This record gives sequence, structure tokens and C-alpha cells, in this order.
Amino acid sequence: MKILCTGASGLAGFNFTRAASEAGHKVLALTGKNELPAMKNVEQRKIDLLDEYALQRIVLDEFPEAVVNCAAVSSPDDVDANPELAEKMNVGLPERLAHLAHHVSARFIHLSTDMVFDGSCPPYKNTDVPMPLNLYGTMKLMAEKKVLKISAPTSVVLRISHISGNSLMTRRSLHEKLLRKWAKGEKTPQRTDDIKRALSAERLGDLLAELCERTLSGIYHYAGLESLSRYEMAVRIAEHFGLNPDEFIEPVQGDRVVDLSLDMSCLAARVKTRSCMFSELLEEMKVPADLEPWLKEKTGKLPVKRFKL
Ligand SMILES: NC(=O)c1ccc[n+]([C@@H]2O[C@H](COP(=O)([O-])OP(=O)(O)OC[C@H]3O[C@@H](n4cnc5c(N)ncnc54)[C@H](OP(=O)(O)O)[C@@H]3O)[C@@H](O)[C@H]2O)c1
Repeated sequence: MKILCTGASGLAGFNFTRAASEAGHKVLALTGKNELPAMKNVEQRKIDLLDEYALQRIVLDEFPEAVVNCAAVSSPDDVDANPELAEKMNVGLPERLAHLAHHVSARFIHLSTDMVFDGSCPPYKNTDVPMPLNLYGTMKLMAEKKVLKISAPTSVVLRISHISGNSLMTRRSLHEKLLRKWAKGEKTPQRTDDIKRALSAERLGDLLAELCERTLSGIYHYAGLESLSRYEMAVRIAEHFGLNPDEFIEPVQGDRVVDLSLDMSCLAARVKTRSCMFSELLEEMKVPADLEPWLKEKTGKLPVKRFKL
């Protein structure tokens, strides 16, 4: 199948591109500033996705059978810092892609977030009424509505929780960010009442590849199997890499508990890709190569990946 992926250099997009290419699909991988390593079945192109004409030309020239949108301004802080750009990327772009996908009769898979909910009544089913707490969540919700209005029968809006995994530039995911701060000697404050079901970037990649082949439509949830606070995740990451959590992590409490745990039972019954526990996410985490000397000096060893039979 010929698949067009936007945001292919991002945390989700990179893992999806790899999974789709391994599954034998032909991927046209659109990147922004960053470049992907060479991969079998993957053609890479740099593009400014806000260049409407360039985007339209690619879709109409290539006629993909599926379009997977992994591009976004994906950090709530970045959305607050530049709401105009964020609206273009997080609302305008999905709307345009949904139109283009509809025009070429392609399936459209769009990533959304657990932050469309307010965290007061978990676990959230895909039928629950959203109530975003921040601008990022509000924009993602607006995009969901637009996408489904344009092409509901051929679109999937996949709401996901926090993505854990290895990113292309080794700076994007939680363990990479934490290790980089810890290596600089920074103590990181982590909330004890901000709760999520972190998921595996690798499994998300497999799931998106599977969704390209299936005829599901509508809103679905995908998340990990364990609800953990950011503090608990950080402690587990530190311990996994042989570090003392008390040296690097400071527990902090917000005004109230925000538990964004997603219930993914509706999707789980319909796909073969499984989710997993946080312990399996830890096994997937790699130490960024430039931090290996620091970690070795600090702990006297590097974590070794063990293969289970
Ligand atoms: N990360 C999470 O924990 C999380 C949780 C819930 C939902 N989500 C959702 O999942 C999706 C993917 O998130 P992510 O974390 O994988 O994002 P990410 O790592 O921040 O990647 C964003 C991607 O968008 C591309 N991009 C941004 N602006 C562009 C432009 N003007 N032209 C071309 N490309 C552009 C970036 O390209 P370059 O890097 O090459 O410039 C990058 O490939 C988003 O919809 C996000 O809202 C993410």
C-alpha cells in the first residue's frame, strides 16, 4: 500500500514510518527540518506543510491509498508560545489533509490526544464528552471535529496518551529529556498528580500501520496498560538506568489530580496490535549515544538489553 506520512521525523511519525516500511508498505515520508535515515520502501521529502500548494501537489501527484498525519505542534507550551502557528498546524493542516485524502479516496488517520479531557473522571472512553483544559487540547478537539465532518467513513481519529520511546534526534521523548537534564546535574520536578497511561512508540507505529489496512472509522483511544504519575514514570526510568531517583527527581503536587487515563477497550477488540505495561516501555528505551560516557561514569555500567526467549 502507498502511504503518505506527514511529520515522519517526529516521535510518532518516525516509529510509524519504520513499522510501515517493515510491513512492506511504500511510504512517502514528509519531514520538516530533520532528516530520516535511509529505510527500505521509504521515499523521503522535505516540505513546509503550511505551503498549501506544495502539499496539494504531492498528494495529487502521488495519489496515496492512506494518509497518516503525525505532524503537529505537539507540546502544549509551544502552543501557548505561538498560538497562531499552532492553529495552522494543529487545526488548519488536519482539515486540509482530510480534504485531500477524501479527494483521492485515501484512508485518513489523524493523531489526537488524551488532553481533550479534563482529567477529572477517568478512565475515558471514546464515547465520553471531551472538555479540554488547555489551548493545545482545545485545538486538537477542533481538529477532530473538522476531520470527521469532512470524511467520517474513511477517517480514524486516534486519541493517544503520552508517547514513550526512542526519537530520531534522541531529544524528544521523556526518558531522553530526563537523562539529558540529569547529565547536566539538574534536579527535575515531576508532578505526583498528573497521571497518564504512557504507550510504546514502537507499538504505536505498528498500530498505525495496521489501521492503514483496516476499515475502521471514527474516534478510538490507544494507551498503555498502566496509569502512572509523571513522578512515578521518572522514578521508574531513573531506577531502570541505575540512577538514584532521590538525587535527580523532586516530587511536586499541582492544584488537583489530573488523571487522563484512556480506556482503549473499544479499539483493543478490533485490532491485533497489543498495548503493554510500563516495564516493557523501559526495556525499549535506549540511552542516547552521546550520554553513554556520562551514564557509564555515573553508574559504572551501561544497561544491557536482554532478549527474553
Ligand atoms: N508526544 C506525545 O506524547 C503525544 C501525546 C498525545 C498526542 N500526541 C499527538 O501525536 C502526534 C505526533 O506527536 P509527536 O510527539 O510525534 O510530534 P513531534 O515529535 O513533535 O513531531 C512533529 C512533526 O511535525 C513536523 N512538522 C512540524 N511543523 C512542520 C512544518 N511546518 N512542515 C513540515 N513538518 C512539520 C516535524 O518535522 P521536523 O522535526 O522535521 O521539523 C515533526 O516531524 C501529534 O498530533 C500530537 O499532538 C503526541
